[in-house]
Amino acid sequence: MTEAPRTARAPWSIRRRVVLGVVALVAVVGILIGTVSVFALRQNLLQRLDSQVQEVMRFVTSGPGGGSVPGGSDNLRSGLVIVVDVDGADPAGVVYDGPGPGTALTDEQIEQALAAPKNQVSTITIPGLGTYRMEVHRASNGVAAVGMSTSEVDTTTWTLVGIFALVTAGALLLAALGAVALTRVALRPLGRVTETAARVTELQLASGDVAIPERVPTAEADPRTEVGQVGAAINRMLGHVESALVARQHSEEKVRRFVADASHELRTPLASIRGYAELTRRIDDDLPVDAIRSLDRIESESIRMTALVEDLLELARLDEGQGLVFGEVELVRIVTDAVGDAYAAAPDHDWEVVAPEPPLTVEGDQARLHQVVVNLLANAHRHTPEGTAVTVTLAEAGDDVVLTVADDGPGIDPELQPILFERFARGDTSRSRATGSTGLGLAIVAAVVDAHHGEIRVESRPGDTRFTVRLPRRRVLAD
Ligand SMILES: Nc1ncnc2c1ncn2[C@@H]1O[C@H](COP(=O)(O)OP(=O)(O)OP(=O)(O)O)[C@@H](O)[C@H]1O
Ligand SMILES: [Mg+2]
Repeated sequence: MTEAPRTARAPWSIRRRVVLGVVALVAVVGILIGTVSVFALRQNLLQRLDSQVQEVMRFVTSGPGGGSVPGGSDNLRSGLVIVVDVDGADPAGVVYDGPGPGTALTDEQIEQALAAPKNQVSTITIPGLGTYRMEVHRASNGVAAVGMSTSEVDTTTWTLVGIFALVTAGALLLAALGAVALTRVALRPLGRVTETAARVTELQLASGDVAIPERVPTAEADPRTEVGQVGAAINRMLGHVESALVARQHSEEKVRRFVADASHELRTPLASIRGYAELTRRIDDDLPVDAIRSLDRIESESIRMTALVEDLLELARLDEGQGLVFGEVELVRIVTDAVGDAYAAAPDHDWEVVAPEPPLTVEGDQARLHQVVVNLLANAHRHTPEGTAVTVTLAEAGDDVVLTVADDGPGIDPELQPILFERFARGDTSRSRATGSTGLGLAIVAAVVDAHHGEIRVESRPGDTRFTVRLPRRRVLAD
């Protein structure tokens, strides 16, 4: 399975994006509503303050005494400032802080109050008193200034800001929790689709299984939803892959059957060719030398072809998984016998066996396992020069038995190694042909080892070629 490419920054999951998006949206909306509301309310409050200022100013400039306020001082709101400067007298100012006569303003405060722009209400700061909405009225006989503290408006404004901040924070928390819960529910079906895909990847599709029983559940394959479309597409793809695998398996079976049938059918005519060649050579003593040589060739080639046909038939049987006869097989015996035969056939090689005391048994097919050892020894003899030392080692390894055939010959061509166990893979073709090799020996070895659920490995470099076969001691039943 290919892994997702690793980038420097991990990509954002859908859940994270949705949650952050919703939170950001709620934050923006909250701040917008809060700002507009607070601003509007503040403007409204200031307007009311201004109209009160103007009302008091009207009274001050038109009232009979020019020094008192309608309704008496009890009606005064705290923070009212009145400054009057009539007929060139020293300006007098007073600040009312709730009911009572009020407090006189200092000269500096009076000066600051009178410095406000004329005939309009504006915001000024009076030292020691704070911020005021102030209006100054100048007439021919004097000056009057009226102002009201904005402290209440400020307090209301900040209270409102606080309330909005709290409400927005609460809304953000709710939105985040809601988005987490919603995405979790919305993405759950996607999780089930992923689980199905993961189960499919565990199927042994490369070897054996061609049926894909896994499908995305119907609830997650309804094309009316987005996840359903993914689910439905995966189901269609699985169906497609399954039918392609079945078709391929059928055609492979056909080829296999054909090879098996053809090999089988070739056995009889080959036996006849060989038999007649032999017979002709025996019964006619007067044959010319050339004819005798030709008959010898016909005989040897038919023997070679019979071996090839037998190998093909053997591979076809192993492919079909039939014909294996399982029993208790004593490997030390098989190995010593095979090395004995190899020594008889090639005394010019140095043969050695390293094996424990018998018995060392595995559950397997006696004839096939014998074939494995024979093929490996034949290679160590055929593809190495005279004088090569061949060591066959047999050892126990837990629940397995390990057979190693090592030689110090010239090694296997590195280009050949990756395909060594494939059919008809052989090195140096001209030489191989001369020695009658077909390139099926190791393919048979691999197929037999595979049928026993074992493992074969090769490591080769000049001077050290090593085939390692690992076989389970107990028969592994196919799952
Ligand atoms: N011990 C070895 N040393 C060097 N080369 C080897 C050795 N064993 C195998 N090979 C190479 O691997 C090739 C494949 O071996 P394999 O046994 O499959 O076929 P073969 O020996 O050529 O033919 P046959 O079907 O008669 O066994 C050989 O042709 C040879 O080039
Ligand atoms: Mg061989």
